[in-house]
Amino acid sequence: MRVLGIETSCDETGVALWDSEAGLLAHRLHSQTEVHAAYGGVVPELASRDHIRRTIPLVEQTLADAGVDLDGVDGVTATAGPGLLGALLVGLSAGKAIAFARDLPFLGIHHLEAHLLAPALEDNPPPFPFLALLVSGGHTLLAEVAGVGRYRLLGQSLDDAAGEAFDKTAKLLELGFPGGPAVARAAEGGDPEAFALPRPMVDKPNLDFSFSGLKTAVLNAAKTRGEDADAAFRRDLCASFQEAVVDVLWRKSARALRQTGLERLVVAGGVGANAHLRARFATEAEARSVGLHFPRPEFCTDNGAMVAHAGGLRLLAGERDGWDRTAVARWPL
Ligand code: KG4
Ligand code: ZN
Repeated sequence: MRVLGIETSCDETGVALWDSEAGLLAHRLHSQTEVHAAYGGVVPELASRDHIRRTIPLVEQTLADAGVDLDGVDGVTATAGPGLLGALLVGLSAGKAIAFARDLPFLGIHHLEAHLLAPALEDNPPPFPFLALLVSGGHTLLAEVAGVGRYRLLGQSLDDAAGEAFDKTAKLLELGFPGGPAVARAAEGGDPEAFALPRPMVDKPNLDFSFSGLKTAVLNAAKTRGEDADAAFRRDLCASFQEAVVDVLWRKSARALRQTGLERLVVAGGVGANAHLRARFATEAEARSVGLHFPRPEFCTDNGAMVAHAGGLRLLAGERDGWDRTAVARWPL
């Protein structure tokens, strides 16, 4: 089955064609970074308008890349939530329209499910069951994944998501947008132990997270130098912040592995693209003989491939949505 997938939940327009036999055939991404950079964050109305401009051309380009036309497509899927409502509606409506016009099955897909199944797009896909750490701009959670659609939430952030902490830290240190890659770049060569930043919630026995205090600690540390903060000071502060986030994420993941007895860990979502996180998790997982799976960095952040894949698995299992399927801004996993 060949499935066209469309992702427009936030500030990336992603389109892909996935084949249940051959895997990913083609994928295209348009990032709106330039549209939002001047505002220091995603402006929902501008995001929706840009998705309108980009979605159909990206569908055409993706099909051309794969060397097929719509006659070669067997199903259509699009992200239905959670995300920015106006942005979601663009991809969802485009997907429904294509499916309706061509009399194809359609399915709206959960954005977080698409993220946490994304490592299956790589060589050596993780077999079920596994522990998933989902770290994106809007969510931070740990879930036990027993199969497609079989998710048990084990813990989540009680305030900011990990990506949000990166974005807010970048903003207060005036590093630019998007924040995650900017902080990672600024941290290069820095001393991760230069600042004793807190590790929120690690002493609590549960699997929940909290990142808003960390951002305040960074702000307070930055104030100690004010205008005098030189490049080395900022480098060390960013490295210490990044280390604190990654340390908390690893320690909670390790606890979840112990509590569940699971032997495989999947890390997905935008923060999973972070090189320091990938290195630390690889070292820790190897020392404990834990199987570790990441999507390639470009499939950690939002993309159409993960949507075509997750929607494809469900369409293949016979799931369908009616034409009344609508977008939802909030949707628990
Ligand atoms: O999964 P994603 O693309 O969108 C959501 O579903 O939210 O995640 C975006 C988040 C942003 O907060 C961004 O700053 C963060 O992922 N991010 C990173 C890196 N690349 C993206 N955070 C840390 N290091 C990175 N290299
Ligand atoms: Zn995402």
